[in-house]
Amino acid sequence: MGEHRDHRWLRWPSEPDRARLGYGADYNPEQWPRQVWREDARAMRTAGVNIVSLAIFSWARIQPGEDEWDFAWLDEVMDLMHENGIAVDLATATASPPPWLTTRYPEVLPVDHDGHRLWPGGRQHWRPTSPVFRRHALRLTRELAQRYGPHPALTAWHVSNELGCHNVHDYSDDAASAFRTWLRTRYGSLDALNQAWATAFWSQHYSDWAQILPPRLAPTYPNPTQQLDFRRFSSDALKDHLRAERDLLVELTPDIPVTTNFMVTGDSNGMDYADWAGEVDFVANDHYLAPGPQGYDELSFSANLTANLAGGRPWFLMEHSTSAVNWRPVNLPKRPGQMIRDSLTHVAHGADAVCFFQWRQSAAGAEKYHSAMVPHAGEDSDVFRAVTGLGAALRTLAPVAGTTRGRARAAIVFDWESWWVAELDSSPTDRLRYRQEALDWYTAFLDLGLRADVVPLTAPLEDYDLLVAPILHVVPRPLADRLRAYVAAGGHLVTTYFSGTVDENNHVWLGGYPGAIRDLLGIRVQEFAPLADDQSVALDNGTTGTLWTERIELTDSATEVLARYTGGDLAGHPALTRRVVGDGSAAYVSTRLGSAGLATVLAALAEPAGVRSELPEDLRGRVELTVRGPFRFLISRTDPLVDVTAPESFAPVGVVGGEFDRDQAGSGGTPVLQLRGVTVMRVPAEDPVPR
Ligand code: GAL
Repeated sequence: MGEHRDHRWLRWPSEPDRARLGYGADYNPEQWPRQVWREDARAMRTAGVNIVSLAIFSWARIQPGEDEWDFAWLDEVMDLMHENGIAVDLATATASPPPWLTTRYPEVLPVDHDGHRLWPGGRQHWRPTSPVFRRHALRLTRELAQRYGPHPALTAWHVSNELGCHNVHDYSDDAASAFRTWLRTRYGSLDALNQAWATAFWSQHYSDWAQILPPRLAPTYPNPTQQLDFRRFSSDALKDHLRAERDLLVELTPDIPVTTNFMVTGDSNGMDYADWAGEVDFVANDHYLAPGPQGYDELSFSANLTANLAGGRPWFLMEHSTSAVNWRPVNLPKRPGQMIRDSLTHVAHGADAVCFFQWRQSAAGAEKYHSAMVPHAGEDSDVFRAVTGLGAALRTLAPVAGTTRGRARAAIVFDWESWWVAELDSSPTDRLRYRQEALDWYTAFLDLGLRADVVPLTAPLEDYDLLVAPILHVVPRPLADRLRAYVAAGGHLVTTYFSGTVDENNHVWLGGYPGAIRDLLGIRVQEFAPLADDQSVALDNGTTGTLWTERIELTDSATEVLARYTGGDLAGHPALTRRVVGDGSAAYVSTRLGSAGLATVLAALAEPAGVRSELPEDLRGRVELTVRGPFRFLISRTDPLVDVTAPESFAPVGVVGGEFDRDQAGSGGTPVLQLRGVTVMRVPAEDPVPR
């Protein structure tokens, strides 16, 4: 990302000098007759909406034929928004190509790994590497930028929509050709590629670049390094599309910031957002609450990771839902109070805008049962009343806008390549879930009332006192060196089973696991011993392991055993170890303990790292604490939501970088906002400067 791209945020066309949190939605007026548009604008003002994302799926309406354009309706909506003081985050409208395009140029359609063409009729039916698609998308982008660049409502560009949501892995001939080009750049020579892909195995040696294909459906497991490189390539191909649209927008409208909506949510893992984050002026994310007992924690985890992709700077929640979605097997509505709780959790983690999919619930189409700000029932509804209440809450919280998210002392490392490779086929178990393990650690932190950041490898890991790197599977030599240096400098590292196993080419580090960091951990493992679904194994610290075990040998006298297996073949063998290195340490957890077991382990590991709860005892576990500048957010983690009143005793300690005055804080700070399940306080302190 060029220097000039840094730190550009929205400008607020009306009241440019006032700090504010953004509030709004995807607005799809093309689904409604014109008379509804004025109703929309009025209701938006009632709700406190100050920004909408427009034209996301409007390609067919804007360009009804290859050389036909219709901007009249969009001109009118842009003007209407402006008249009502509502800023527009205008989409480039390239997310879903119109029927005339796919009929005339069927070569833009993506192909699945089985060789089947994916047909139009849904959305996002385009190949990321199609030169024909790119040409048409850039033509549309140019038209929009030239026409609306000067419009006073325009505050940001929204490139495409959720790039890669449905089309990240395309196996077409265009993809094959672009993949070869990408591989030539990565490896330079076929020899280097053959070496990296270990093509001596199964007679896969390539003698010509033209022989190389994406990992299409094969009789058995495709080459694992080819699979990894195809993941990298696919993420890069979409990033390339983002850059192409962005570069054009920057050229034509240099003052308007550019973003695209990421999907740091659930199991969506095609795009390496740590690698994408630098390509946008501000990070935007879409998040949809996962059902189940860890749903709130998963929301917080995703918001936290998004904040750290944004480098701690404010980010934009581009989409979430007021209530039910339409795309799960069973779509549960939100409970009373939950929508505001969920929204403010994002704000607590640095979001300076809270937006929904979508403004008015569709009467027809595939998403007609997806909730919206104005539901089918209309404005006389609990949802719209909650929406208006949230608008008021966000106005109260306007001083939060622009404040920096306070860094925690502990962090969980999140790495897309480890996620990809640890879950590839032909591995010790197909039951391993990378993100779930990271989330379980996060839940353990929250259960103990501890703050932890969720950070990509690009974050300043060195600044944390405690670093948990669950299933850090792919460890190239420079990363191993970095972890060694971290511990040598007094850092406390914790890692788990299946970590340090392979290098950047997905080749095993030989000599015993976890090869890349076994010296640092002071252990050696000869063989993995995953568990069957009905197996578990007890540890002598009262926890229970599932999924995976290892027979650990201690290789250094400084390695202590924190817990041992008590049953099965491994009875008496170490399960958890810790090697002290000067002021630092490196700990290892060789089995899956789940969040409750991890809380037991973490309680023992956090203390020596100096990581302590900043919450009073009675709130620990029930409430999540986050820090933004001088603000403290206390958010209920329970169902039903608990009312969180900051007790007199509340005296946060150890706020990183905070010049926190404990005597004054002992009086409890000043609540800025108290709602069901959420309390926001302003504490008498300067905006803490992150280290
Ligand atoms: C997102 C998408 C929106 C809408 C929403 C429904 O994936 O960007 O357009 O489909 O999901 O939850």
